[in-house]
Amino acid sequence: MKTLLELTAIQTYIDQYHILQNVSFEVPRGEVTVLLGRNGAGKTTTLRTIMGLNPAAKGNVLFKDQEITTLKPYEIAKRGIGYVPEDQGIFGDLTVGENMRVAMQKEDEATQERLEWILDLFPDLKKFWKRPGGQLSGGQKQMLAIARAYMNETELLLIDEPSKGLAPIIVEKVMESIEQMKEKTTIILVEQNFMMASQIGDRFYILDDGRTVHRGEMEELRVNEQLRKKYLGIA
Ligand SMILES: Nc1ncnc2c1ncn2[C@@H]1O[C@H](COP(=O)(O)OP(=O)(O)OP(=O)(O)O)[C@@H](O)[C@H]1O
Ligand SMILES: [Mg+2]
Repeated sequence: MKTLLELTAIQTYIDQYHILQNVSFEVPRGEVTVLLGRNGAGKTTTLRTIMGLNPAAKGNVLFKDQEITTLKPYEIAKRGIGYVPEDQGIFGDLTVGENMRVAMQKEDEATQERLEWILDLFPDLKKFWKRPGGQLSGGQKQMLAIARAYMNETELLLIDEPSKGLAPIIVEKVMESIEQMKEKTTIILVEQNFMMASQIGDRFYILDDGRTVHRGEMEELRVNEQLRKKYLGIA
């Protein structure tokens, strides 16, 4: 089974607003699929629709060939989709360790192995295990958010703009970590930092006005300045 997730003609409303008007894409297993697009294009809403937080009114979402369109967020998480939201969603009052433990659905050996693996990947989390989440640096918060999402049996990880608000050197570090996570899980990455996206992405979809308007191999976008200018406002 090559395709892990498939969205077909998704339409999503937030209150009376018709936000996603026609979003369709496929996510191949083992790859990093990047969602690009200007501010307000609908990238976050697309991830929230996959997670069941803003369920689609029309169209469908297939995960491992099974329909998950109308499942509740916790059911979708249980199927093996992890979500790192734009605002990171960590608990500022809880320590790093507590943040991690709250995220774990199980305490089995596999979870313990994932914990060890992720702490090797993000040694800062081990170092600041007893520090409140709210006192971490921006980069460390992002690492904690990613680590939390990875704690359960995750076959697909949705990561929303991990580079946002971080210094370039930290962005580089976070991106390198995501690149290593690629060995463990399939990833959908929302990223406005084109340099970073192109570094780790295998293929891309461009969203504009709530619609998927373009798709291709990442390489195609690297060489297509016109496309980047048109939809992303960058050269
Ligand atoms: N709670 C809401 N109520 C009304 N409109 C909303 C709400 N949330 C998002 N929108 C609108 O939906 C559209 C898509 O928003 P979304 O957050 O999905 O975009 P985005 O591509 O993630 O943008 P950004 O790059 O700024 O994060 C925008 O026009 C936004 O104003
Ligand atoms: Mg967003």
